[in-house]
Amino acid sequence: MSTSLGTYLTRAGVPGDLSSVLLAVANSSVKVSDQLPFSAALTTNVNPSGERQTEIDIFANDEFAASLLATGSVAEVASEEMSESKKGSGKVHVAMDPLDGSSNISTNNPLGSIFGFYSGALPCSGLLLRGAAYLTYGPMLTLTFSTGAGVARFVAVRGADGSTEFTLLEDKIMIPLKGEVFGLGGPRNDWVEPVEHFVSSMEARGLKLRYGGTFVGDFNQVLGYGGIFGYPSLKKKPKGKLRILYEAAPMAYIMTQSGGYASDGHGDALLIEPTSLADTTPIYLGSPELVSELDSLIRAKDLGS
Ligand code: F6P
Ligand code: MN
Repeated sequence: MSTSLGTYLTRAGVPGDLSSVLLAVANSSVKVSDQLPFSAALTTNVNPSGERQTEIDIFANDEFAASLLATGSVAEVASEEMSESKKGSGKVHVAMDPLDGSSNISTNNPLGSIFGFYSGALPCSGLLLRGAAYLTYGPMLTLTFSTGAGVARFVAVRGADGSTEFTLLEDKIMIPLKGEVFGLGGPRNDWVEPVEHFVSSMEARGLKLRYGGTFVGDFNQVLGYGGIFGYPSLKKKPKGKLRILYEAAPMAYIMTQSGGYASDGHGDALLIEPTSLADTTPIYLGSPELVSELDSLIRAKDLGS
């Protein structure tokens, strides 16, 4: 017998406010997925990080924000696509990347969405996360999330009548301890020295390069195969590219819940304190020994050895 998302949330004892935001995210993801083929065009708008928005970036932002606020469980929705939060009267502070990997829209490569559910006003560290979730749009529409008791994954199943039900695909997902794949963003000649050294050693050990250019997609295969994904500190961009609140901390939470480890190169990524909504950080996530090994190389370099 398949288990629906609603049934799972009830059985797992997930608090009502978190359940309602997860159900809202699932429902809206179907609308975003259906809209994708029709709204790929670039607009003239620019988001707070200076990136040109596509029509689907705006559609996804507005769809998720509206459905989250309509639950009545949400205190605020902050988004990579908005300069200010939208306020509600509930308790869950949501930070979201409504469409992750926008540069992959035109090439029809995987896309995703990321959500962090915080207990305090944003910006704040990942220590205040009560849960986090991500969606993948393709080949399957999946919802992967944790509310602090492991990681579960649901898949959208379409009925003949046009309805969609999210059905449990995997529960208690654990990252393999032995790494098989790695992917690091940014131009290789712009990587800081410990990252370059580490990647050369992973290649020598036979790990395979896997990089698709969408954080959600790249993270998802590291979670499945074991290994490491990073968007590193670059010589020209020491604070990396990925945003702490919307991307790095929620995915760090899920990685940690799967038995993995996430670091900014100096320690636990959940401890990073952003000072503004769009602050970025270097981030490395994956099988715990590999991420710790990279931490040690970065620390040794910092100490001048
Ligand atoms: O959200 C930023 C993002 O699109 C991530 O999804 C992805 O990991 C990264 O940028 C890709 O960056 P680049 O184009 O430099 O490889
Ligand atoms: Mn993104």
